[in-house]
Amino acid sequence: MRWQHRTNVYQLCPRSFYDSNVDGIGDIPGITEKLDYLADLGIETIWLTPFFSSPFRDFGYDISDYRSVAPEYGTIKDFDILISKADKLGLRIVIDLVLNHTSDQHPWFKKSVENDPIFKDFYIWHPGKRGKRPNNWLSMVGQSGWHWSRERQEFYFAQFLPFQPDLNWRNPAVKNRMWEIVRFWLQRGVKGFRLDIINAISKDQHFRDNPRDISHIFPSDKNPNLPFTSSLYTRDLPESLEIIKELRQLVSEYGEIMLVGEVSSSPEKGKLYLGNGRDMLDLVFQFEPVSAPMRAGRMANIFGNINNLLPEPFMPTTVFGNHDRFRRISRYHGDLDMAKLNAFLQFTSRGVPFIYYGEEIGMEQAHLRKGSDPLLKKAKLLPRILVDYIRRRHHESLNRDECRTPFQWDSSSNAGFTDAKTSWLPITKSSIKRNVHTQTLEQDSLLNLYRKLLKHRKQNPSLRDGSFKILRRNSLIETNFHVMIIERKTPEQTALNLMNFSREPQKVLNLPENPVSFLSTKPSRCSISEQIILEPLEGLSIIYEI
Ligand code: GLC
Ligand code: CA
Repeated sequence: MRWQHRTNVYQLCPRSFYDSNVDGIGDIPGITEKLDYLADLGIETIWLTPFFSSPFRDFGYDISDYRSVAPEYGTIKDFDILISKADKLGLRIVIDLVLNHTSDQHPWFKKSVENDPIFKDFYIWHPGKRGKRPNNWLSMVGQSGWHWSRERQEFYFAQFLPFQPDLNWRNPAVKNRMWEIVRFWLQRGVKGFRLDIINAISKDQHFRDNPRDISHIFPSDKNPNLPFTSSLYTRDLPESLEIIKELRQLVSEYGEIMLVGEVSSSPEKGKLYLGNGRDMLDLVFQFEPVSAPMRAGRMANIFGNINNLLPEPFMPTTVFGNHDRFRRISRYHGDLDMAKLNAFLQFTSRGVPFIYYGEEIGMEQAHLRKGSDPLLKKAKLLPRILVDYIRRRHHESLNRDECRTPFQWDSSSNAGFTDAKTSWLPITKSSIKRNVHTQTLEQDSLLNLYRKLLKHRKQNPSLRDGSFKILRRNSLIETNFHVMIIERKTPEQTALNLMNFSREPQKVLNLPENPVSFLSTKPSRCSISEQIILEPLEGLSIIYEI
């Protein structure tokens, strides 16, 4: 199995990890300084969100120079140092690749607006119809995706926000430029790319209206379209798949390179981007678990479906959060025992685990009225009561800054993130306890459980490479609907992973005898027998050799 399917990934936002030069903003040398922490945690791959030059109107997802490091984060030299130290520690670096759009401050767009002969077709332009927008295409965040350029006297299209114009991937020159950028970073030693909204890069060349979809009312992780709309002509076009095949060929000149895609579509559509398992992306994110309630039945269903859809040679991802979503632990009100069970599920299930920075110390969602996230402006247009209701009931926030607060290193002021007076976003309230220093000293902390689980996963081939099966209640092993059991198998080893999702003890009967080892989320567990009583919210992984 290739490393892209066996590794674990830590997602880190450079702005919020560690500030090395006292300006309150995290930076690249800061990451380099803290690599030992990640290596010691058991991390193997690090994904950095955008650190390129940018007006930073969308957290760096609006790039104005793809071959640079933003001055506030450091220099290209700093990046090279980061790569070489990571190499020494056996850590791989994966970076964000935004192919769909650039910033409107990118020189390509500026020249395109001026109708420059080389750049005029770099973006998606249309004169409109009798002064009106060309068609009904919406952006992903609501409202028309078409924006009028007074200078060029034409509309341009933007899938996301108006200052992020979409590139025209039908123009071979765009592709060539982007492939040069890909080579630039591969030559610097990057081991992969996370492809931002990759299913959106191609749009219908005839500019046909998207049909209405009256059966679709609520946007969800399975169908993120806005109510009553479809994206037939703006997302998941066959041309996007061809572009990905080309990208795979290019990167394969540099060895085994990880390509992981953000595809906001149904899991079935997401699978298209994996091709035959070798010729396109290695992984796409499955986002359903992010908002799923911590119930045995529901989790068994979701993980069962994902694994049925993606048998070998495919591999799922296991994701519970990222820089766009409500922090996972705050969906269950900061409960550390629940977070331990959640981590257990993540590392014993089948798939490449993606850990969002701070999850390992139980960092919570901040509650901010201010912030730099452009989506917050939209939230301000909605009635406060509605915004609060969505937050309370559905645990969703339109202010993505709330899950992007500085990482918590210790219990000093500013949580050891910066020596400056203030950090770019405030530190969350619970940082006194939820920080690396405190939790390293505390034997049974969440952080130490992450360390143990990552080690357990590394030491036991069945957990990394094994098959996946949910044991139903009518299997040999007897238990009840509060308990979820995942069996993982290789020819030499079986792992039984038991999870009690209830706050009551639960019985499990008829377990096989003579395990070789086990790991529990509860420190009190000291032995295993044929019959056991799982503690409330206990996760227990038992290993048998065949
Ligand atoms: C992706 C990113 C998000 C960004 C958007 C536009 O969804 O995860 O943070 O705002 O794309 O690039
Ligand atoms: Ca700094």
